[in-house]
Parts: sequence; structure tokens; C-alpha cells
Amino acid sequence: MIPRSLYNLSALTFVAIATNQLHGSLPSNLGRALPRLETFYVGGNRLAGPIPASLSNASGLANLDFGYNNFGGSVPTDLGRLGGLLWLNFEGNQLGAGDASGLDFLTSLSNCTKLQVLDFDSNSFEGELPNSIANLSTQLSMLILGGNHIRGTVPDGIGNLASLTVLRMENNFLAGSITESVGRLQDLQLLSLSGNQLSGSIPFSLGNLSRLNDLHLGKNDIEGGIPSSLGRCINLQFLDLSDNKLDGAIPARVIGIPSLSVFLSFARNSLLGHLPAEVGKLKNLGELDISGNRLSGEIPEALGDCESMEYLHMQNNKFEGAIPSSLQKLKGIQYLDLSRNNLSGQIPEYLGGSLHSLWHLNLSFNNLEGAVPQEGVFRNVTAISAGGNAKLCGGVPELRLPECPVTTSKTKPSNRVTKIVIPIVCTLAALALLSCMCFISYGLRRPRKTPLPAPSLLEEPYMKISYRELRKATDGFSSKNLIGEGRFGLVYRGTLDASGSVVAIKVLKLRNHGASATFMAECEALSHIRHRNLIKILTCCSSVDSAGNDFKALVYEFMPNGSLEEWLHPDPGEQHPSKVLNILQRLDISIDVASALDYLHHQCQAPVAHCDLKPSNVLLDHELTAHVGDFGLAKVLLEDRNSKIQTSSVAIKGSVGYVPPEYGMGGDVSTRGDVYSYGILLLEMFTGRRPTDEAFNDGSCLHDLARMVYPERTMEIIDPRSLLIGDEEMVSDGRQRSIMSSRMEQCLVSVIGIGLSCSVAQPNARLEMRDVAMKLHAIRARLLRGDT
Ligand SMILES: *[C@@H]1O[C@H](CO)[C@@H](O)[C@H](O)[C@H]1NC(C)=O
Ligand SMILES: *[C@@H]1O[C@H](CO)[C@@H](O)[C@H](O)[C@H]1NC(C)=O
Ligand SMILES: *[C@@H]1O[C@H](CO)[C@@H](O)[C@H](O)[C@H]1NC(C)=O
Ligand SMILES: *[C@@H]1O[C@H](CO)[C@@H](O)[C@H](O)[C@H]1NC(C)=O
Ligand SMILES: *[C@@H]1O[C@H](CO)[C@@H](O)[C@H](O)[C@H]1NC(C)=O
Ligand SMILES: *[C@@H]1O[C@H](CO)[C@@H](O)[C@H](O)[C@H]1NC(C)=O
Ligand SMILES: *[C@@H]1O[C@H](CO)[C@@H](O)[C@H](O)[C@H]1NC(C)=O
Repeated sequence: MIPRSLYNLSALTFVAIATNQLHGSLPSNLGRALPRLETFYVGGNRLAGPIPASLSNASGLANLDFGYNNFGGSVPTDLGRLGGLLWLNFEGNQLGAGDASGLDFLTSLSNCTKLQVLDFDSNSFEGELPNSIANLSTQLSMLILGGNHIRGTVPDGIGNLASLTVLRMENNFLAGSITESVGRLQDLQLLSLSGNQLSGSIPFSLGNLSRLNDLHLGKNDIEGGIPSSLGRCINLQFLDLSDNKLDGAIPARVIGIPSLSVFLSFARNSLLGHLPAEVGKLKNLGELDISGNRLSGEIPEALGDCESMEYLHMQNNKFEGAIPSSLQKLKGIQYLDLSRNNLSGQIPEYLGGSLHSLWHLNLSFNNLEGAVPQEGVFRNVTAISAGGNAKLCGGVPELRLPECPVTTSKTKPSNRVTKIVIPIVCTLAALALLSCMCFISYGLRRPRKTPLPAPSLLEEPYMKISYRELRKATDGFSSKNLIGEGRFGLVYRGTLDASGSVVAIKVLKLRNHGASATFMAECEALSHIRHRNLIKILTCCSSVDSAGNDFKALVYEFMPNGSLEEWLHPDPGEQHPSKVLNILQRLDISIDVASALDYLHHQCQAPVAHCDLKPSNVLLDHELTAHVGDFGLAKVLLEDRNSKIQTSSVAIKGSVGYVPPEYGMGGDVSTRGDVYSYGILLLEMFTGRRPTDEAFNDGSCLHDLARMVYPERTMEIIDPRSLLIGDEEMVSDGRQRSIMSSRMEQCLVSVIGIGLSCSVAQPNARLEMRDVAMKLHAIRARLLRGDT
């Protein structure tokens, strides 16, 4: 219990006792006892009873947080006397139960002209949403009232709240149509109205919301077509229109919004017509659900361009024709449901052959014919469904399909090399969680309550993490869990209590100048940028440690294989024989890193320069897929996509050896600088030499060394370990071996050539990352197949 003597401290202005296990209730005279109170944070305890009626007597109150307790009853209706109120949070209590006038307090808040955050999500408020919310402060940035029993309509006047960035009203009983005035909320980033009884059509004006990241309208009774104006929401990452009564065709402009990167669902509506080929623009989308509609025609080839796709739901439509061969480009696909369509032709071999991540494949109730493959996913009968296709045969015996008629031998061409080298790590796209919103509220983390896409999508829902939990996860930040140290922080391995999952926790050194800015930059950058070769941030923590100092930490997915640094230059002490990368692994990692930089430089809304690319910032997951981390130095380049940035005096521009020469001469930070660092990294990966090697103390550099021998004598500087192929069978066959070694030599010479072109001194003469990625892909194909 909070000791009663606390309330004798009548001069108190600041009380923060959030996220503890305090219980009992608050005295009704709280506001009179502590009349000078400005900040009162008691969120995340077990406090019960009513919200003290006397709050409004403490006239200087600005920040009030009662979230996540067991408060009940009603909210005082005279809070409007608190003219300086900025932040008011009641989220996660039982307020308003059985009281039809429980929302009356909203009317009095019209007087709080500075109010920025109003959150009473997940309570028991009922009654109609009063029109007076239109009179709330024009400073209001977040209005959050999901998970109540609120009736009525979304008031027209909502459009007055011009500063809103987050508007959440999901899971209530709101009815009527969505007011066009929502389109006036120009700053809106998240709009959630799902799980209500809204009808009418989707307002055309939503297309005005060019900053919108997340739009949730699922589970309502919305009718009519999908307005093509939505195509103007060029920052949309998450769009859910599922479970409504939408009809008409899917507008090409909407399905081609390239920023869509997390989730797109039109599932269970009555949409008609073809799936537009513009779907191929969704290069960063992780999950697409168009199931349960009346879509027809062939599956567009362009679908294969959605390189990041992991979950694809197309079942219960009227798609016909063959399964297109382009789908073999979906290298990260895990879940594919094509059931209950009218697809015909054979099951393509690649579904079992080259899609290594696939663990769920449903082809049932189509018109497919011929042999069911037996490789890959087809080996596991629980992973596939193929029933209801009358003309299928073969497959593994457990499928109990009729045997296929014996055909004249269709001998396979000897694609032995491909087969042998198949244990290539296949990338698993890092499926993005929903936007990480960093609430710098005192000790209060906000769990995501949005209806999540699919249970399969999120193994760990957005975590709510406190300093205490992080401390526990790392055994009190013990040195045995320390896995790295960078300029801005220490990185620990931690095991989270709740889920048992292992994460990497970067604790920022706040005493270092710049660390706090880094935190914000990293949170901001990471929450908007998603790519399977960029490291995924799980959550952020901003709190105080046990000594009362500021504590900021970022929680990342854990990369079991550590950093590229450890693989390229293993500690001589722990010569771990298996810590050697063969040529293909090196090539794959260099492609991964190039893809990540290509994404940062060319595919984000504004080009982003990483500014500190080096092997210790390239992390490897359990399949050795590379993920580029540490955006602390990333600068969002606001200028045009070339290479300019306004801020020139950036104190921190990377690490010795990888910094481009122009930075040393006062040059501006640019994406071309990253290309230089990449070139050095590439040379380092294949020569095994660090750019900081003592041999370069004479003023020469790794680039000079490579230039001296390139191309004729390139092999002289190649790290002998990068000549490994990684397969014994290959070595035993003499002829294959000699073919392979000449291909390897060509490959290595080309790679060093790229490294050189990236690391030339003249920034304008360097390659662009998109070309680098393309060239490396071609080199890889030549190495494996001898293609030219
Ligand atoms: C506290 O506020 C009430 C109105 O809510 C008022 O009647 C009362 O005089 C105030 N008391 C003090 C001590 O300011
Ligand atoms: C709003 O402020 C005015 C003037 O300050 C005051 O008269 C009125 O009572 C306040 N309204 C509420 C609901 O507190
Ligand atoms: C909003 O405030 C204005 C001016 O104070 C008032 O006339 C109007 O009735 C209020 N609207 C609602 C819906 O309360
Ligand atoms: C918002 O959208 C409506 C309808 O699409 C349009 O008429 C209006 O001009 C737009 N307003 C702004 C500020 O863009
Ligand atoms: C495959 O799809 C059919 C028809 O849509 C469905 O009934 C079945 O449950 C699905 N199989 C699996 C394993 O999900
Ligand atoms: C399915 O496709 C075949 C052609 O492949 C066509 O003849 C048949 O009518 C289609 N069935 C339905 C129900 O659309
Ligand atoms: C087979 O697939 C099921 C469902 O995807 C999975 O749970 C199981 O682990 C798989 N079994 C094997 C041997 O891979």
C-alpha cells in the first residue's frame, strides 16, 4: 500500500510509482492533500477503487497516468478545471461499467486546451460517444478508446482534431458510416476502427492521409468498392479491410502501394475481377490475404516479384489456370494456401524443390493433375493438403493417392552442381511486428491490442518490457551475458521470462554524449524500415534503472551466429573449426548486405545512409542469413535521392578503415559513403584482411592492395578459406572439381572487381547498391550453374 504519510508531503510536485505491485486505493482527498502536484504516475500497479474526485483541486496537474490498474467507477467530471493537463491515461482499468453517462467527463475536457494524449482504452465505458469530443484540444495527438462498449457514431467533428497522429476506436459498438471528415486529419499515422458495426462505404477522403502507416477497418459491415484514392496513402505499411461487405474490383493503385510492408488483407469480402499485376510492386510485403472473395482469372506472374512474402492466402476464390512458375521467386515463403480455386495443370516441382522455408502448402479442391512431387515440403504429409483434386497421383505413400502411370523415362539433366550446393542458406524474411511506437511515458509500455494479422505471424506479440524484466532476463546485466560492446552501448543476451525467447538487448551508455539521440534515431529508423536483411527490433525500453538513472534499451531478435566479424576473424584462442565460411556462404552474405543497403538507399521513402557499415554490424541468424544492424548513425537523407544531405557536421561518421575518404575531408554524409564501406567490407570478406591491418600503416589501404593484383593476380590475395566449397562429394569427383575451381576463380575475380569499383576514392565513380546487388546475383548464378 502507498503509505498514508506520503499524503502529508503537501509540497510534492512529482510522484512516479509506476510499474510496481502497489495495491489499495487512493484517498479521495488526494488533490487537496497534494495541491501542488504536477505529475502523478501510478500506472501498472494493482490499485483499485475510484479515481479521486479531488484531482481537480491540484490545479497544476499536467501528467496523469492511472493505466493498467483495477480502478473502477466513474471519472470525475470536473477535470476540465485542470487547464494545464497534457497527458491523461486511464487505459486498462474497469472504469465506466454500468454507467450510461460515464463518458460525460469528455465534455469537461474541452477546457483542457493543451491536452495531447487521452487514453481510456480497454475499460468498460458504455453509452454514446459524445459529439463534444470534437471540442477537445486541437493539440491532441493521441485519442485512444478501443476495447470498450461505446455506441453511437464517429462524430463529424472529429475532423477538428487536426493534430491527431493516432486514433484508435476499435472493438466497440460504433455504428453508422465513417465520416468523411476523418480525411482532414492530415497528421494521422494510425487509424483503427476495426471490430465495430460500421456501415456505409470507405470515405474517399482517406486518400488525403499521406502520413498514414496503419489502417485497420476489418470486422465491420462496410460496403461498396475500395476507393482508388487509398492509393495516395503512400506511407501505408499495414492495411486491413477484411471481413466486411466490400465488392467491386481491387483497384490497381491500391494493391500497388509500394510502402505496404507488413500486412495487406482484403479477406472475406465479395471482391470481383482479376488480381491486378500491380501486386508485383509489393516487394516488401510479408503477408497478403485475399482469400474468401470472388476473384477470378489467372494468378498474375507478377506475384512472384513480392520477394519478401512469407504468408500468402488466396484460398476460396475462382482463380484458374496453372500455378505460375514465377512463384518460385518467393524464396522466403512459409505458408501458401491456394485451396478451393479452379487451378489446373501440374503441381510445379519448385514447390518442393527450391522453396526451403515452406512448411504449409494447401492445394486442395482445385483441378490439379499429374504427379505430386516428393521432395521438400511434400515429404511431410501434415504440411500439405492436396485432396479434392481428382486427377492427382503419386506423392509420398501416406497421401494414399493412386500410383502414377509409368511414363517413358524423362531423365533429369545432370543438375548435380545445383543439387550438391543446395544446403545454401535460404533466407527467412524477418517478419515485421507492427510499428514499434516508443512511448516515452514513465515506465508504461503499451501492448499492441490491434487484432493481429494471424496467429502464425507473431510468435511473440508486442512485448511489454520493463527495466526489471530486462534486468532479470540478463541476470542483472551480468558480464557472462555480455555479447558485444559498441560505441553507444553494451549488448546482452537475455532470456525473457514470459515467453522463454532469447533476445539481444542493447543498453545505451547514456553518459556518452549523443547516446540519447542515438536511441531516438534508432527507434525511429527501425520502426519504419523493414527488410529481411535488416535486423528486427522487438521493443524499446525507456525507464530508470535501480539507481534512479535514465535507462534506455533496445530489444532485438537474437542472432545465434553472432557477427560477421567473429566469422571472418575468429579469436585465435577459440579456433572453432566449424567457424569457417565457404565461398557460397560469403557470396550469400555479401548479397544479403547489398540487398539491405539497396533497400535503405533506394526503396525507402527517403534514402537512408547507414554510416557505420562494418563486419561487427552484420549479424548472422541460425541459417547464416545476414541482417544488417545498428542504425544508430543512420541519417535520413531528406534531399533528393542522389547524395546530398543538409546536415554536414555530423560528428560521427563511421569506423576507422571503413570511413570513406571524403568524410575525413569534411564531405557530406551520403549513401555513396556506405558504398565505400561496403566495398571495403567485400574486399575484407574475400581476402580475410582487415582494413586496419598493420600492413597498411604506410598509408596504403586494402583497396590499393587489391588494385595492384587485379585482375590477373587476384588469387594471390584471396583468403584460402574462401576457396572452400562446403561439400565433400564435389571434391571427390575430379572433373567436377576442376570445372568448379575455374568457375570459383572467375567468381572471386569478379567479386574483387566489384569491391574495387565500390571503394574508389571519387564518390561519383562508385557503383550504386542496386547494381551491386544485381551483379552479385549474376555472379552467384554463374558459380552454381555456369550460366553466362
Ligand atoms: C476543491 O474543489 C472543489 C470543487 O471541485 C471546491 O468546491 C473546493 O473549494 C476546492 N477545495 C480547495 C481546498 O481548493
Ligand atoms: C471551463 O472553464 C471555464 C472558465 O475557465 C469555467 O467557467 C468552466 O466551469 C469550465 N468548465 C468545466 C466543465 O470545468
Ligand atoms: C463546442 O464548443 C462550442 C464553443 O464552446 C460550443 O458552442 C459547442 O456547443 C460545443 N460543441 C459540443 C458538441 O459540445
Ligand atoms: C481531401 O479529400 C477530399 C475528397 O477526396 C478533397 O475534396 C479535399 O480537397 C481533400 N483535402 C485536402 C486538404 O487534401
Ligand atoms: C486446406 O484447405 C481446405 C479447403 O480450404 C481446408 O478445408 C483444409 O482444412 C485445409 N487444410 C489444412 C491443413 O489447413
Ligand atoms: C474450371 O476451369 C475449367 C477450365 O480449366 C472450366 O472448364 C470450368 O468451367 C471451371 N469451373 C468453374 C466452376 O469455374
Ligand atoms: C511436418 O509438418 C508439420 C506441420 O507443418 C510440422 O509441425 C512438423 O514438425 C513437420 N514434421 C517434420 C518431420 O518436418
